[in-house]
Amino acid sequence: MDDFLEIANIADIPPGRARAFDAGDRKIAVYHTANGFYASDNSCPHRGGPLGEGDVIGNEIVCPWHLWGFDVQTGVCLAVPSLHIQTHEVRLDGERVLVRLTPVPATTESL
Ligand code: FES
Repeated sequence: MDDFLEIANIADIPPGRARAFDAGDRKIAVYHTANGFYASDNSCPHRGGPLGEGDVIGNEIVCPWHLWGFDVQTGVCLAVPSLHIQTHEVRLDGERVLVRLTPVPATTESL
């Protein structure tokens, strides 16, 4: 079956904000953009910064440590496109925010 886990309530993540939640043995950051809710592992692939404490700008999460930006939908780092965050599928069920624990496979960039 699927492995979606309820990790938050919609009201926990106001529009334009990010927040990290415990999900089993990991932390997952959830982003509320104008396009909806997205999620990724909380740890930045650069040096492990806490993405859930970053700023959401449009469809981008900006890491609070060194300000690298990542597209929350594709996971691609805007500064270093060969880097990406591990994104997770999000499903809403009423007020509940559910996140699939198995990450979405990274897309291979061929620029
Ligand atoms: S740790 Fe995230 S940009 Fe450096």
